[in-house]
Amino acid sequence: MKLKTLKLINFRNYNEGFFEFSDNLNIIFGDNGTGKTTLLEAIHFLSLTKSFRTNNDINIVKKKQDYFQIFGSFLNSKDKKIFVNLNYSKNEGKRIFINKVDLKRKTDIVGRLPVVIFSPGSQKITDGGPQVRRNFIDRILSQINSDYFQALIEYKKRIYQRNLILNKYRVQRQNKYDDYINTIDEMLVGFGAVIQKGRFEFIEKFNNLFCNIYKKLVHYDESVSLQIMPNIQADSNDFEQKFKDKLQSRFENDLILGRTGAGPHRDNILLLFGNNDIRIVGSLGEHKMLLIALKIAEGIFIEQNLKEPVIFLLDDLFALLDVTHYVNIINEIGKHKQTIITTTDLDVIKNKGFDLDKFNVKTYKLPTGVS
Ligand SMILES: Nc1ncnc2c1ncn2[C@@H]1O[C@H](COP(=O)(O)OP(=O)(O)OP(=O)(O)O)[C@@H](O)[C@H]1O
Ligand SMILES: [Mg+2]
Repeated sequence: MKLKTLKLINFRNYNEGFFEFSDNLNIIFGDNGTGKTTLLEAIHFLSLTKSFRTNNDINIVKKKQDYFQIFGSFLNSKDKKIFVNLNYSKNEGKRIFINKVDLKRKTDIVGRLPVVIFSPGSQKITDGGPQVRRNFIDRILSQINSDYFQALIEYKKRIYQRNLILNKYRVQRQNKYDDYINTIDEMLVGFGAVIQKGRFEFIEKFNNLFCNIYKKLVHYDESVSLQIMPNIQADSNDFEQKFKDKLQSRFENDLILGRTGAGPHRDNILLLFGNNDIRIVGSLGEHKMLLIALKIAEGIFIEQNLKEPVIFLLDDLFALLDVTHYVNIINEIGKHKQTIITTTDLDVIKNKGFDLDKFNVKTYKLPTGVS
């Protein structure tokens, strides 16, 4: 998939913005606060119907306005044009049109415009808590496997609903595991089974790719892998029963805490460097290289599964990487994939011996003090 043009209306600092992209490397540069991250955020929003910076869409609407709009035109690998329009209004929420057809389920767009985002916050994948790594995996699987994605959405809804009920029962001093909770749990175990199976299958395939990319990047023979420590320890035959038993046996505990303590939303996911948790042994540089390898592997994995090239969005990588790492990653992806990079200073890139001419690069300067 290639992004050809993008138009933004009332999207954060943009009143109206229009961009044309090259099929290869694009560099967006400008001072702090000119809207570089916002531009990548808008592309991410079209692809996944959500931001990578906020969970609350209202934050994105330009101040004093009631709605925002994103228009993107894409060209897929079969040379088919795809026009996508996403509208959000404070009163009516989101609506998405593909080639002018209103999508019944907004989530149906996920997986059609695959992107990989690499931002200063991405380092949390290697050094943050398990939730960040669960999200990393969920984000990839959501783009390539719609059954997984739907199960995940339903699972999260049921957990939310169950937690509300737990809190209500606690206030009412109702502590019986009743039919209502039982019905929710029946649904949870079904969706949970899809999630657990999806995650295990993913890790098995992904680790090989991830490890090979890492070795190629660092020329160093240390094996790296993602490993799941599932909250429900069971194989696919007895997963549902074991999960159900655990939900039931923990019910009183859950009531006290007001949240559901068992299930795949509590899976621990480790990033192993050799045989050790990277969070315990990793140097700063090792964390960075692992992140680069993970992100490149993410892109290739999505591409292999969807049979459609991904768009790489690299936000302010100088804030995260030193020049050697930076050049490594751009060499790896910038020549072959559509890549959109943001930076405050184009000269820094040039001065560090980075030969932009080799890349058929398109640069775009965002104006300061205009919106
Ligand atoms: N809802 C909003 N309405 C109007 N302006 C907003 C809104 N949300 C954020 N902004 C502003 O938009 C501007 C652009 O933000 P953005 O994060 O895209 O800047 P940037 O170019 O990435 O800057 P930096 O180089 O510091 O990362 C900022 O000044 C920010 O305060
Ligand atoms: Mg920024």
